[in-house]
Amino acid sequence: MPKLAISGGRALCGKRRKWANWPVSEESDINLIAKITRSNRWSYDGPVEWEFAEKFAAYQGGKYGLCCTNGTVGIQLALEALGIGAYDEVIVPVMTWQATAAACIDVNAVPVLTDVEADTWNLDLDAVEANITSRTRAIIVVHLYGCMTDITRLQKICKKHKLFLIEDCAHQPGSFWKGKGVGTFGDVSSWSFQESKVLSSGEGGFNICKSKDLFYKLYSLRNCGRPYEADPVVFGLKKAANMDTSTLQSGNYRLTEWQAGMLLGGLERLDAQVKHRDANALLLNKLLEDIPGVHPMRRRKEVTQQSYFNFGFRIDPGELKISNLQFCAAMNTELNMPDQFEPPYEPLNECGLYKPHTKARQNLGKKYWKEIDPTRFKTPVAKEAHDQSGVACHHQILMNKQEDMELITKAIKKILDNIDELRTMKPAALIKRYQALSR
Ligand SMILES: Cc1ncc(COP(=O)(O)O)c(C=O)c1O
Repeated sequence: MPKLAISGGRALCGKRRKWANWPVSEESDINLIAKITRSNRWSYDGPVEWEFAEKFAAYQGGKYGLCCTNGTVGIQLALEALGIGAYDEVIVPVMTWQATAAACIDVNAVPVLTDVEADTWNLDLDAVEANITSRTRAIIVVHLYGCMTDITRLQKICKKHKLFLIEDCAHQPGSFWKGKGVGTFGDVSSWSFQESKVLSSGEGGFNICKSKDLFYKLYSLRNCGRPYEADPVVFGLKKAANMDTSTLQSGNYRLTEWQAGMLLGGLERLDAQVKHRDANALLLNKLLEDIPGVHPMRRRKEVTQQSYFNFGFRIDPGELKISNLQFCAAMNTELNMPDQFEPPYEPLNECGLYKPHTKARQNLGKKYWKEIDPTRFKTPVAKEAHDQSGVACHHQILMNKQEDMELITKAIKKILDNIDELRTMKPAALIKRYQALSR
C-alpha cells in the first residue's frame, strides 16, 4: 500500500482541513470604506491617505513617505527622483519579481542582473562588487521573502562607490535590522500593497525617503508633475517662500482614498501579524534544522524582527535524490494545500514574464538592446535554487497555530521516510495526482 498522498496513500490533512486565509479584513475596515464612500474625497491627497502615510512611515522609522499606485511604479519613481535614466547601470538581484528590473527598463536604465546568496536568496555582495562599473549609478536591494543580506556592508559599498541605494521592500513591511526599520537604509525605498503582500489594499504602493527634496520630487512625479502645495501640510512640510514651484514631466501614479482606508486598517494589525509569523518561522526553522537533507535559510544576527512574504527553505537534492518540484507536489498533496509549496522565483535571465525586447519603446539602439539582454548574465546560485533545492511557501502558512508548524514538519518527515515512492513515480503520474488535488 502506498503511504504518500501523492502516490495514492492517505493524506495527513483531509479536504476539510482549514488553513489560515489571506488577505484578511475586519468590520472596522468595512465601516471606514463606507465612510469614505459617503464623503466627497475619493481621489488623492485625502485625509485617510495622509494619515496612513504618516503612520506607516513612522512605523518603519522613515522621515517622509507617500503613497503611489503600486510597487512597480514605486521603484520607477525612486529611480526617476534620483535622476537615473538612459544607459545608467543599476544592479538588481536576479532572483526577484520581474518588477524590480522592469522598472529600470521603464526609465531606460540597464538592469545588471546579479546573483544571490545560496542561504538567503538575497543579493550576494561579492557579486555586487564584481558588477560595479564606471556606469553604475544605483543598487536596488530586494529584501526577499523572509531574509536579508548584510545591509551594513551594502551601505558601505554604496558609500565607497558613490552609488544610490534603493530598497525594494515589497516583501517586508515590519522588518527591522538592529532595531531600525527596513526602507530607511537607502536613499529611497519602495513598497507594494498588492493583495498577496503582508500589508494590502488589493493594489497599492509607497515610497519612503530621507530628504525633503526627494519627497518633493516623489510627490510631483506621482502627481502629473504638479509641485507640492502644502495643502494639506504633511510631515510638517509647510510651503516655503523660496520653494521651487517649477513642474516636472510625469504621469498619474496616485492611490485612491479607499485603498488608503484598507491600508490604515491593515496597519493597525500589521505588527501583531508580523510578530505571529516571525515566532512561527523561528519555530519552523528550528524544527527543520533537525531533519537530514533539509536546510533552513540563514537569519543574520542583526535581524531584530523579520517579516515574511514567503517562508523559504532548501532540500538537498543530491542527498534526497528528488527535485524541489517533486518535493513541493508531495507537500501540497499531503497537507491539502494546492500550489502552496513551490520553487522560489525563476531567475530573471530565464523568467517568462521578463521580456524587455518585446517593447518597441526600449529600442534605443543596438548597444542598449544588447545590454538589456537578460540572458547575458550568468547566475548559477539562483538557477540552482529555482531548479533544484529551493522551496518557498506564502506567508499565510505562518499565520496558522504553533502546532501547525509541527504538522508541516510531520509532512516533511513522512515524505522523507517514504522517499522511494516519490523517486520512482513517473512525472506524468505525479502531475495527474497533483492536478486532482487542485480541482
Ligand atoms: C520584490 C517585488 N518588487 C516589486 C513588486 C511590484 O509590486 P506591485 O505588484 O505592487 O507592482 C513585487 C510584487 O510582487 C515584488 O514582489
